[in-house]
Amino acid sequence: MPHPRKFIFDTDPGVDDAMAFLFAMASPELELVGVTTVFGNGGIETTTQNALRLVELVSRSDIPVTAGAARPLLHPYVGAGARVHGSDGLGETRLPVPTGAPQPGHAAQFIIDTVMADPGRISLIAVGPLTNLALAVSLEPRIVQAVQQVVIMGGSALHPGNVTPVAEANIHNDSAAARIVFAAEWPLTMVGMDVTCATVMSPEYLQTLFTMGNKATDFIAKIVPFYLDFHRSRGEDGIYVHDSSAIAFALDSSLFKVKTAPVHICVTEGRVDGQTIADWGDTGSGGHKVNVCMEVDSPRFLTLYRERLATY
Ligand code: BDR
Ligand code: CA
Repeated sequence: MPHPRKFIFDTDPGVDDAMAFLFAMASPELELVGVTTVFGNGGIETTTQNALRLVELVSRSDIPVTAGAARPLLHPYVGAGARVHGSDGLGETRLPVPTGAPQPGHAAQFIIDTVMADPGRISLIAVGPLTNLALAVSLEPRIVQAVQQVVIMGGSALHPGNVTPVAEANIHNDSAAARIVFAAEWPLTMVGMDVTCATVMSPEYLQTLFTMGNKATDFIAKIVPFYLDFHRSRGEDGIYVHDSSAIAFALDSSLFKVKTAPVHICVTEGRVDGQTIADWGDTGSGGHKVNVCMEVDSPRFLTLYRERLATY
């Protein structure tokens, strides 16, 4: 097998962030070199504590966790994630306090130092608001050339939004940061709701994970009921597979059909804030083209997820 792809996981855990982390850690194609945290599904203290819990769960406290942004660049942090993920970010499970601590320094600086120390070999997989990536690229623009790949869960090209009629949560939570990240001329792939809502883990599928009874699936069995209840309250009998879709793209991009277009981010107030507009018609709107995932082979993806979780 070729060398695993080294990556930094920028995250706001988050039930589906945790499920994505466990997927990545069971995948030999990927080597996690650091976790960076951002506000989003909870405040920065909550998401950082949860990231520490995750590395401890898989006995990988050697992987550094570095805390990042506590608020968006422009707008105030409103903490809307609690109704989806619970006030502790992990489904109201009130897990024990982790034994480890985040390493000193800011997530954005960790991203810069790690990417610049190993040019061409580090990818960024970001599944929360894009504040840390925006700060990193603003502080050190050379990471645009030095990074191997940037994969983000966020946005939507044609699918409706999930926090406003037109905006997806990660982009809406820091639209100004997203605009910086989408404007940077690095190899960026948007894994948005066009594909993440096309893959659903039904209660029956989740049950097949729970019956494995290993430490990862036992953890998912604890944290997922609150998240599933949220989906049910919106008439969906299953959970959308948001953050794990970004991991899936990094693992095996052949699972996805991708189109390219410049994607513009609306930065404003209210419902339109964070809308992602893909310029399919190349209307001369400018901006460099990014990869936009438009279709996914969900059965193959769900089989892969289950196979990987079985290895714990
Ligand atoms: C995104 O928002 C968060 O609630 C999830 O963790 C995911 O990253 C989906 O819109
Ligand atoms: Ca997330």
